[in-house]
Amino acid sequence: MGRKRIALLGSTGSIGVSALDVVAAHPERFEVVAMAAGANARRLVEQARRFRPQVVALEDREAATWAQRELADLPVAVLSGSDGVRRIGAWEHAELTLSALVGAAGLEPTLAALEAGKDVALANKECLVMSGALFMETARRAGVRVIPVDSEHSAIFQVLNNGRTEGMTLRNCGAICGFSQLILTASGGPFRGWTRERLAEVTPEQALAHPNWNMGRKITIDSATCMNKGLEVIEAHHLFGVAPERIRVVVHPESIVHSMVSYTDGSVLAQMGVPDMRTPIAVALAWPERINAPVATLDLPGIGVLTFSGPPDPEAFPCLELAYGALRQGGTAPAMLNGANEVAVAAFLAHRIGFLDIPRLIHWTLEQSVSGSMDSVGEVLEADLWARDRANEWITRYGWGGSGTKR
Ligand SMILES: NC(=O)c1ccc[n+]([C@@H]2O[C@H](COP(=O)([O-])OP(=O)(O)OC[C@H]3O[C@@H](n4cnc5c(N)ncnc54)[C@H](OP(=O)(O)O)[C@@H]3O)[C@@H](O)[C@H]2O)c1
Repeated sequence: MGRKRIALLGSTGSIGVSALDVVAAHPERFEVVAMAAGANARRLVEQARRFRPQVVALEDREAATWAQRELADLPVAVLSGSDGVRRIGAWEHAELTLSALVGAAGLEPTLAALEAGKDVALANKECLVMSGALFMETARRAGVRVIPVDSEHSAIFQVLNNGRTEGMTLRNCGAICGFSQLILTASGGPFRGWTRERLAEVTPEQALAHPNWNMGRKITIDSATCMNKGLEVIEAHHLFGVAPERIRVVVHPESIVHSMVSYTDGSVLAQMGVPDMRTPIAVALAWPERINAPVATLDLPGIGVLTFSGPPDPEAFPCLELAYGALRQGGTAPAMLNGANEVAVAAFLAHRIGFLDIPRLIHWTLEQSVSGSMDSVGEVLEADLWARDRANEWITRYGWGGSGTKR
């Protein structure tokens, strides 16, 4: 059997680098044939020299020109712009595309991968949040698999597939296996247990210091606001075809139990492991086989105690409820939630708004919106753009350094 050929969207990011670790540990099994990133040409060039893909792409055209000069001695094609990145997603010589771009930028290249008949290992939750039903329908029509990389969804995927029965797919497994609830675990982030008053003074530097996971900046802020868990609820709804009221969130600060499935017979099955994304990446790349991953062994006696408590306090962390609300509303509401959140997170990181302004801005944006139908990617992108415009309007009115006052 030949090596599995992988296209890697987001090779320079946290997930991308972890994925290359897994690939490097199994050179006989995997081959990276295409890689894409945003602007980090230096890292992409280093990766290309080491992994020798057929093609790379950088969204930033100047960065791509620099990379082309640096790689002139190798047989590596260099593409540029969002078109170039999309071509990586659908690269003809790849069998599987690992989607690890951050944010809405992941939508079109990942859809391109599905349309080109590639199995997708999905880390980029935003594309599923934005276009959920459309995304899953595209995968179904193309007859390809979507294998989750997000640790919670990988946990559920592993639990469900271990008890796999004839004819079971990701979407009908609830009916076939008789599960009653999906239980997503949340670490609670760096501000677990904090009150609203305390959160008002949080700085980007504090919010970027996640206690358990080492991740990209955007998802780290999403974890601190608990929007990450909200996005994951929407992701789980689409991946597993489960109604919002059957998806529950519990806080589990140790991040050892990655999620659970509760069955109608009273059994609750969990997947555990050290908090290291190389495990779910290895699961997704090798599925349905299991391979060694370069991660530490879980030492439960060393950890001693695992704790669980109810969902995050909705007063202090309203983002989770905002996400449930958008999911219930349906249509383009989740795409708007996502667009507003991306603008809010960037503004918070740039010290233009405060931590508690993130849910305020999203709430305001959603209040202005009329959620439309979502029958095409065009409608999704339009909703995303509309939400970004409203979010920027909020920042101009109320943000720091805008016409508003500092809160
Ligand atoms: N990190 C984790 O542990 C983790 C866990 C679960 C799920 N996820 C999900 O995985 C995705 C990636 O997260 P991450 O933490 O790896 O993010 P990250 O470290 O910020 O990396 C993002 C990647 O996307 C690239 N990129 C950004 N904007 C782009 C654009 N417009 N066009 C092309 N490439 C672009 C970046 O390139 P440059 O480096 O050139 O900017 C980088 O390669 C997110 O959706 C996140 O929610 C992450």
